[in-house]
Amino acid sequence: MDMIDPFGRTISYLRVSVTDRCDFRCTYCMAEDMAFLPKKDLLSLEELDRLCTVFIEKGVRRLRLTGGEPLVRKNIMHLVRQLSRHLESGALEELTLTTNGSQLSRFAAELADCGVRRINVSLDTLDADKFHKITRWGHLDKVMQGIDAAQAAGLKVKLNAVALKDFNDAELPEMMRWAHGRGMDLTVIETMPMGEIDADRTDQYLPLSLLRASLEGQFTLTDIPFKTGGPARYVQVAETGGRLGFITPMTHNFCESCNRVRLTCTGTLYMCLGQEDAADLRAPLRASEGNELVAEAIDEAIGRKPKGHDFIIDRRTSRPSVSRHMSVTGG
Ligand code: GTP
Ligand code: 5AD
Ligand code: SF4
Repeated sequence: MDMIDPFGRTISYLRVSVTDRCDFRCTYCMAEDMAFLPKKDLLSLEELDRLCTVFIEKGVRRLRLTGGEPLVRKNIMHLVRQLSRHLESGALEELTLTTNGSQLSRFAAELADCGVRRINVSLDTLDADKFHKITRWGHLDKVMQGIDAAQAAGLKVKLNAVALKDFNDAELPEMMRWAHGRGMDLTVIETMPMGEIDADRTDQYLPLSLLRASLEGQFTLTDIPFKTGGPARYVQVAETGGRLGFITPMTHNFCESCNRVRLTCTGTLYMCLGQEDAADLRAPLRASEGNELVAEAIDEAIGRKPKGHDFIIDRRTSRPSVSRHMSVTGG
């Protein structure tokens, strides 16, 4: 039986944050000095697999591993390999990953071997110095090697760039040309007010309507109905022949077509990225060997999925709308 929420939306997409840790500290995502979850609180990979399997039995058709950075979780390929059995059985249509790319050169071939067909790589700039600055210590060349390895392994790569005022806005047209030249879609994202960071989000926030207007001065953008199951709205760019997606939680809410819930590495289920309400699945998971209690807890949680987020970025409200960082729920 499909999972249907109180607003009639079918929940068929699960995002699983397999770790809240990351080898970067992007300035819009994390504070430099982050307190991560104690390792003892993490569900084991077997427990994560069990939870994912219950979700798949309940109607999840697409599953995305996220983080933090999913590829820094110890033995992560063991989980990917386990989950791939649901691709083989046809229960799952897509198993995929959102990654910062830093470990991809090591894992790309194995991901492809496990049936992963496409991945999203977060990349906010093509300038090595700026990359180092935004991630606080990351090396762009490692990510570039990762993208090369992913493409060489036959994975389709989409790039995600958070649009940041006075940081990468001037560079985004060039990034788009570069991505399209390599056969990759690019999506640009409005920053969301999640978790305390060291910067002021108002200074970073760029409404994508402004970016679109400026791009339209240089390119011919045509809205297209292309969909990946995610929230991006795509345009076709005549001059490059590629696709550009806009993810606009702040200026053009897409909650009415939401199809997803988010599971954290401690077994907490968030029904909405932009709300604090959550359900604990760890206790029912550990209370019995069978899955009935978990299935009941999931039904109860889906039954209170909220209508949408209430994100606000405003100089007068310095507090983030949601106290947890994006890395806890994996975007
Ligand atoms: P595909 O469309 O399947 O390629 O993936 P996606 O765009 O849903 O996933 P990805 O991990 O690439 O996320 C891109 C951005 O979209 C991230 O910044 C996410 O936080 C944001 N995002 C994804 N889902 C939601 C959502 O339900 N609500 C909001 N507000 N943002 C979302
Ligand atoms: N707002 C928007 N996107 C964010 N990401 C991380 N933090 C934020 C934020 N506060 C992005 C990452 C990655 C995706 C999973 O989420 O850059 O592309
Ligand atoms: Fe890590 Fe992604 Fe957050 Fe950057 S945005 S710190 S790569 S989780």
